[in-house]
Amino acid sequence: METQIKKVDENSISLGKEIILGGGIVAIPTETVYGLAASAYDNNAVEKVFIAKGRPQDNPLIVHLSKVEDLYKATDCPTKIAEQLLRAFSPGPITVVLHKNSYICERVSAGLDTVGIRIPSHKDARAFIEACGIPLAAPSANTSKRPSPTNAGDVYNDMNGKIPLILDGGQCEIGIESTVVDCMGDTPIILRTGKITSEMIKEVCGSVSFATSNSVVRSPGMKYTHYAPKCKMYCRFMDILGLEEKIQQLSNMGEKVVLLGDSSCKKISCHHFIYLGDSVEQYMKEYFSALRDGERKGSVIVCYIPFSEKEGEGLYNRALKSCGGNTI
Ligand code: TXA
Ligand code: MG
Repeated sequence: METQIKKVDENSISLGKEIILGGGIVAIPTETVYGLAASAYDNNAVEKVFIAKGRPQDNPLIVHLSKVEDLYKATDCPTKIAEQLLRAFSPGPITVVLHKNSYICERVSAGLDTVGIRIPSHKDARAFIEACGIPLAAPSANTSKRPSPTNAGDVYNDMNGKIPLILDGGQCEIGIESTVVDCMGDTPIILRTGKITSEMIKEVCGSVSFATSNSVVRSPGMKYTHYAPKCKMYCRFMDILGLEEKIQQLSNMGEKVVLLGDSSCKKISCHHFIYLGDSVEQYMKEYFSALRDGERKGSVIVCYIPFSEKEGEGLYNRALKSCGGNTI
């Protein structure tokens, strides 16, 4: 199959709509990461998404709507918490998990009776969903376990030959995936961290908790390794002292070290330096594409993160998963 990349405009939207309504899949931009979209009402179409990604069968997909008024297209049971969170953060990088209605096909929810619902703020994403007229199931558009794609070229690298069309809406503004929140009880439970932090959620709902190992079953995606580059990777958090020596040791062992970091890293000698920025927002935006760039340029990635976990909840989560918990 030939994979076309087309800038988002009226023509490419209508081509994409034809593909979706014909039971096919299309990669679309969102403000978080690119998604691999299919009709959330069509088991066969959703199956194609699982195949293109090589995704484990028990990991459910997020359903995307163009506006909050369309919530009924995916659930009959909006809860108070879900309404509070959607009012505060939607359209935007938040996914609320609710009981699914009977239209959402079984493959979307991977056998669960719930559905993750998100209303993206990216104008092209909303225009495309609106044009299709149905909810679109869309996981991140990477091969399973790989870093999520934040530009059309990264989608192409994973999906070339597997999907007919990539809609190119430029670089994603946020760069890490949405915060996923179980909204079925009295307290919101964070299943995946993101730009919307636990503190922001607590402010809106009055309380918040994190998924414990018991609730892992509720968000099957959490048990898989994720976001990993093809090469080895280490992280260093908040303390730059001694980092240069560690990098030197790796170089002495013959490694080509690619360092990802902020301005304070610019003076550290290494095989290749990738500047991620000096704020959490800049780091999140550059992070995934830097992993893909880093693995092409060297044999080991070292990522220095100067922020606290409280400041960069979602970033810590992605970084720790990418390096498999290996700190240096
Ligand atoms: O920002 C995002 O959320 C991006 C863009 C494309 O919207 N999508 C995304 O999808 O990251 P994906 O499939 O890569 O990650 C979805 C996560 C997985 O961890 C999955 O287990 C969880 O959300 N999830 C989806 N539906 C769920 C459900 N019904 N219950 C619990 N967890 C769910
Ligand atoms: Mg993903």
